[in-house]
Amino acid sequence: MNNAPIGIFDSGMGGLTVMRALAERLPGEQFIYLGDTARLPYGTKSAETVRRYALQAAHALTARGVKLVVIACNTASVGLPYLKEALAPLPVIGVIEPGAEAALAVAPKGPIAVIATEGTVKGGAYVSAIHALSMAPVAQQACPLFVPMAEEGLIDGPIAEAVARRYLEPLMARLPKPQVLVLGCTHYPVLKDIIARVVGSEIALVDSAAITAAAVAKLLDQNGMAARGEPQAHHFLVTDAPDRFARVGEIFFGHPIDPGAVEQVDLQ
Ligand code: DGL
Repeated sequence: MNNAPIGIFDSGMGGLTVMRALAERLPGEQFIYLGDTARLPYGTKSAETVRRYALQAAHALTARGVKLVVIACNTASVGLPYLKEALAPLPVIGVIEPGAEAALAVAPKGPIAVIATEGTVKGGAYVSAIHALSMAPVAQQACPLFVPMAEEGLIDGPIAEAVARRYLEPLMARLPKPQVLVLGCTHYPVLKDIIARVVGSEIALVDSAAITAAAVAKLLDQNGMAARGEPQAHHFLVTDAPDRFARVGEIFFGHPIDPGAVEQVDLQ
């Protein structure tokens, strides 16, 4: 069991920003990443549909013998209690609570601004996770175009900046002087530069990647589940367009992705 891989999934490439932090923090582990690229985006779909898709993705990973599942998707993490119950006793970790903790570590009393997909904003999971720990004022903004922009690799230039202004300026007007802006979607870290340019360098940008990696490391350690010996190469599963995933995924993962390691699967 110790040398079984860790499963990670997202609707597309965004979860690779979390896998990057995991692979850096846990170099001895093997990872299997699943991107449900055929059905992206999750953020504009109903909570029921996202739960169904997420469970299918998790089952595809458990069928490959993973020892734990990381839901590297905020939108799917809204359904964390349901997924935990459905996959028990397999450990399942989401990214929303770690993201809330990361924000409060920077600004314990807020104010905290959160940008995320429509589904995450509607589910209110960030507001609940933050308010479970602090009474910090929170304002949220859905940024639906950020996901297709990131998947297209459109991460800078005048179009990206115009879209960022359209979402972020009203948010900044609603919540004067936020101390921190939570990137509440795993696709958004690749848009960090343009987001920082619009909101200003005095607002800290926080995402859940590093703190999720720390939570996974702790869980492995506490349960004696850490890998021993040489890790196997990482493997990637996608539901569509494996070549494109290998090419564009590098922007998110920060390392080249071997096209030979990307396999197309059907989840239905
Ligand atoms: N990367 C995902 C998230 O963290 C979802 C993006 C999408 O499919 O809308 O919410």
